[in-house]
Amino acid sequence: MSASTVLERTAPLYDKVRSVIPRIEWPVFADDVEAILALKKQRDAVILAHNYMTPEIFHCVADIVGDSLALAREAMKVDAKVIVLAGVHFMAETAKMLNPGKTVLIPDVEAGCSLAASITAADVRLMRQRYPGVPIVTYVNSTADVKAESDICCTSGNALKVVESLGVPQVIMLPDEFLAQNIAAQTKVKIIAWAGHCEVHERFTPAEVRALRADHPGVIILAHPECPPDVVAEADYAGSTADMSAYVGREKPKRVVLLTECSMADNVSVHHPDVDFVRPCNLCPHMKRITLPKIRRSLETMTHEVTIDPALADRARRSVERMLAVK
Ligand code: 13P
Ligand code: SF4
Repeated sequence: MSASTVLERTAPLYDKVRSVIPRIEWPVFADDVEAILALKKQRDAVILAHNYMTPEIFHCVADIVGDSLALAREAMKVDAKVIVLAGVHFMAETAKMLNPGKTVLIPDVEAGCSLAASITAADVRLMRQRYPGVPIVTYVNSTADVKAESDICCTSGNALKVVESLGVPQVIMLPDEFLAQNIAAQTKVKIIAWAGHCEVHERFTPAEVRALRADHPGVIILAHPECPPDVVAEADYAGSTADMSAYVGREKPKRVVLLTECSMADNVSVHHPDVDFVRPCNLCPHMKRITLPKIRRSLETMTHEVTIDPALADRARRSVERMLAVK
């Protein structure tokens, strides 16, 4: 097939992302996009993509997109035989836990997360010994072993609800110290934190927020709750990636900054051409391991399959399902 034919056939897809991908770059993506769409049919596969995926993945090949909470919820409803998780490893593990009978693939097994790497199952057992009877709320950005040792999971989208749903005066919240502190500021529940940090969000500073306001008068600043509390305090709003996206859709700010991973503003801006996105951003090196060629290869070779020991998966799933049951 000639390159020009591929370009013609993928032109409607390019139209979706033309505001964020220069035309000259599209030929680099077109062939993989077309191959992935065909492979999805051939393999009976769906692609679940996190909001931090680059626009050609997010808008052109993904079937389901969203924040960690949405991906966990949607993973349970998938009909297809195969799930390709375009995101990091803990997300693929969660999808596997909720779909033990399906094949779950991650295009790069090295796509980790500094939060998930900050704590082990043995650490969680030590915390339980140190604070007997105190429930352990674990952020989904954690390994299956850590989830298995926990009482309930949370995401940045439901952390406050989850903490308050337990009806106790004190909880342990692992492993994100800043998320724990940001939630503690909104509740009477006492929160014992762990010192894990997201390497992307911990780099934002209050001075940077003040400089953004000085340079862009009237700008609305939205921060992810993995940012340090002094950054969240300087922002106009804090919420998960889905919450930030919903805020932009609802409030239609003239000019906005999303204090989060780089691809987020690109992906949201596609739906809001009238909003001016100021784009300081920190790149997540783990999320950026997932590329179109790796997704294509993943479907061609059915790699890398994510597996979890069934007994461990049962225990970890309980924590995720308890979270999903919180209304
Ligand atoms: P959410 O999309 O759930 O807000 O999480 C952000 C994140 O850092 C995922 O790795
Ligand atoms: Fe982990 Fe932060 Fe990257 Fe999300 S953005 S995967 S929390 S390192």
